[in-house]
This record gives sequence, structure tokens and C-alpha cells, in this order.
Amino acid sequence: MNSAYLPSFVKRLGRITESQKNNLKDLSFYEVKTIADCWEFVANSNAILDIGFGDGDFTISLAEKFPNTRIIASEVYKSGIGSLLGKVKAKQIEDIKVFLGDVRDILISESKPVFNKVFVMFPDPWQKARHHKRRLISPTFFKIIKPHLTDKAEIFISTDWENYSESIIALKDSLTDFLFEEGVFTETTFETRFAKRAIKEGRLIKTFKFTLLK
Ligand SMILES: C[S@@+](CC[C@H](N)C(=O)[O-])C[C@H]1O[C@@H](n2cnc3c(N)ncnc32)[C@H](O)[C@@H]1O
Repeated sequence: MNSAYLPSFVKRLGRITESQKNNLKDLSFYEVKTIADCWEFVANSNAILDIGFGDGDFTISLAEKFPNTRIIASEVYKSGIGSLLGKVKAKQIEDIKVFLGDVRDILISESKPVFNKVFVMFPDPWQKARHHKRRLISPTFFKIIKPHLTDKAEIFISTDWENYSESIIALKDSLTDFLFEEGVFTETTFETRFAKRAIKEGRLIKTFKFTLLK
């Protein structure tokens, strides 16, 4: 992957199951490749961007929770895309399209304010200090995402890593265009795979909401 950014995702073996492979045969129907493709798909509707969806269960929960809303779901790994497409097809959901790759790559070309909700559930934690620069949630992320947000758009971020939480909380003072809140939000109550793992391993999950003020 030739992203302009340091990878924010962990290298995985990329093993793809037969059923994921089978689901990926329909990728071209569900895929958006450019930001213009996203605009076309979300035109005149509420639009959500779900970043790093993993197995896609949370994305499906968003589609069920927010009817009449179009969702762009982004993930770096084909295995995840294959899983999500299987669920999308089984449930005959028409409101989800996928971007395969580093989400930042489609956000850095042109921009138009279309997304009113953005979700980043359990971004890869990059726990070691020397890896912190790989973390997705950073001042750069907010700079890239902001021009794509509608008025009062909300960005939800959950993490179970204390040090990542601290670094997100530390961002709030410099992000004067956003209202910062920490709490429990109905939008993110669904337990993702990584949420379940955090609970099992006894880590506290924190969720943050950044609302665009201007
Ligand atoms: C720890 S997993 C969490 C998956 C899922 N959200 C959940 O809660 O179960 C983080 C996911 O984000 C994806 N990811 C990391 N950086 C990304 C980026 N820049 N663009 C798109 N996806 C990314 C990774 O590939 C990985 O699947």
C-alpha cells in the first residue's frame, strides 16, 4: 500500500477464508475508489464514515440504527471487507459502500462537507512510545477530516488503551473548532469484537465525541 502516511494499521498475515474470497467477487459493485465516488453514493442523504471496521459487525449495526443514511466503511484488509460484504449481502443492505485502503488516502484530495457522523472504533493502539506517531488519531487526522464534515458533525472514537485515551484528551485544547465530550453515547453502545476483547481482558473502554462547532 502506497499511502502518504505512516501505516496506522498493524501488519497482519492477510489470510482470507473461502467465504470472504467468495464475497469479494462482488467487491466492484460495493467499492468506492475516490472521494467523488463517495459523494455520488451519499448525495442528498445523511452520511456516515466508519473507519477501520474490522469484521464489519459495527458497520451493520450502524446501518440498522440509522435508516435512510448512507455509510462509507473503510478498512485496509481484504479479509475484513470480505466479512462485511457477506453480512451486507445476507441482510440485503443497500446503504453501505466500502473503501479498501488507508482512509486518509481518499480524504486528502478534494473535499466537500458530507459526513455528519464519523466513527473510529478501537483504532490500533500502538502502545510503545516509539510507535505513537503511527496512531491514527492525531492533529493531522482532525485536519484531514474537518473539511469533509457537515455543520455539527460528530466524530466518535472509542479506545481501551489508557495512554491512547490520554493522548486523545490532550488534543482537545488545540481543537478549538470542536466541542469535546467523554461519556457513554447511544451511537456507540454496540460491542465490537475489540470491545468484547477489552472487557474480557479487564480494560476500561473510553468513548470520546468531537462535535464540529464551526
Ligand atoms: C483494532 S482494529 C478494530 C476493528 C473494529 N473497529 C472493532 O472495534 O472490532 C482497528 C482496525 O482499523 C483498521 N485501520 C487502521 N488504520 C486504518 C486506516 N488508516 N484506514 C482504514 N482502516 C484502518 C485496521 O486494519 C483494523 O482492522
